[in-house]
Amino acid sequence: MNHVHRLADRSCDTSLVPDAETLLELLPDPLFVVDGQDRLVWLNGAAEQTFAYGRRHLLGLPLDTQVGPGSALAGLIASAREAGAVVRGRHMRISGRSPMRDAVHDVEATPDVERPGNVLVALRERALGDRLESQLQSRGTARSLAGLAATLAHEVKNPLSGIRGAAQLLESAAAEDDKDLARLIADEVDRIVALLDRMEAFSDRHPMPRRPTNVHEVIDHVIRLARAGVASGTTIQEAFDPSLPPVLANRDALVQVLLNLVKNAAEATGQGGTIRIATAFDGGLRLAPRSGGPRQALPLVISVADDGPGIPPGLLDHVFEPFVSGKETGSGLGLALVAKVIDDHGGVVMAESRPGHTEFRIALPLAPAGDGR
Ligand SMILES: Nc1ncnc2c1ncn2[C@@H]1O[C@H](COP(=O)(O)OP(=O)(O)O)[C@@H](O)[C@H]1O
Ligand SMILES: [Mg+2]
Repeated sequence: MNHVHRLADRSCDTSLVPDAETLLELLPDPLFVVDGQDRLVWLNGAAEQTFAYGRRHLLGLPLDTQVGPGSALAGLIASAREAGAVVRGRHMRISGRSPMRDAVHDVEATPDVERPGNVLVALRERALGDRLESQLQSRGTARSLAGLAATLAHEVKNPLSGIRGAAQLLESAAAEDDKDLARLIADEVDRIVALLDRMEAFSDRHPMPRRPTNVHEVIDHVIRLARAGVASGTTIQEAFDPSLPPVLANRDALVQVLLNLVKNAAEATGQGGTIRIATAFDGGLRLAPRSGGPRQALPLVISVADDGPGIPPGLLDHVFEPFVSGKETGSGLGLALVAKVIDDHGGVVMAESRPGHTEFRIALPLAPAGDGR
């Protein structure tokens, strides 16, 4: 009771309550308001920091001078204005000048009902660690899947071959009407065996010898395969950093990984879409190895991006988990295998997606010095 009284008393002392403007100024998250023409009409101190300009310069300027024209952020603001309701975007990459460039934010756009056209925008930057979190979870999944796959394949395939043999015997002996049923059993068994074969790729039984590998040679090979097959109706662009040193990798596994990514991208864009495969050196990305020890640089980045419809928001956090598929006949194993192989190589893979742009980024360690041949 006492406590409640004290609080009540204090709230009467107006000198202790900061005014609203001061409160907004104290918030660590960037906040700003744009008017109906997307011009900045108000912003707090954190937003000044984010845009790296002072208020005097920014007020009245169109937002796209800060975040680039046609940005996803502008799209979100327009949706909020249209819907007359709060619209949220997660993991949005806000392009434009540095320091905004490449930062990833969660965004909330709230229309101001009293001043129609005005929209209040709140940004919350996501730390890199935050972004890696879901990847680290998929690391665990991939590892438990390795054991599961090995056990399943071993335990289930043997009885299956017995079932298949029995079904074939039945087929030869059955009356004409029942032959179809016997054949159905054999066909379904074949389907399960094919699935198990694919899962066996996850087991740690297959050793993966690694040697210094030129990623560009691998990517060229994948592009040739893709153009002849999975991505025949799709444009594939390349943007290589030719100075990249070799990685310590299993070439076949890396081919499979990139092919899975390109196949997904081609399936997402359909005919006429564009896939962009890029490589870059990014010395800033570091991660502690699973075995512990100091954080290790993962400077070698391979990215596969497409201009398809994007990964459905509910799926994005789970795409690396096995059997998660947005396709009617998908196995949901493609990206799980990507996560497993990249994890085995000591790297990470991250997914980012919004309508019109989906990007998978693989970051790998360099081959240790002295290992290059
Ligand atoms: N580039 C992409 N664009 C849109 N959605 C994607 C993309 N890549 C993956 N996905 C989504 O992630 C799901 C899982 O992919 P994957 O593990 O390869 O399984 P599958 O392709 O068998 O469905 C896909 O079904 C799809 O919904
Ligand atoms: Mg796939």
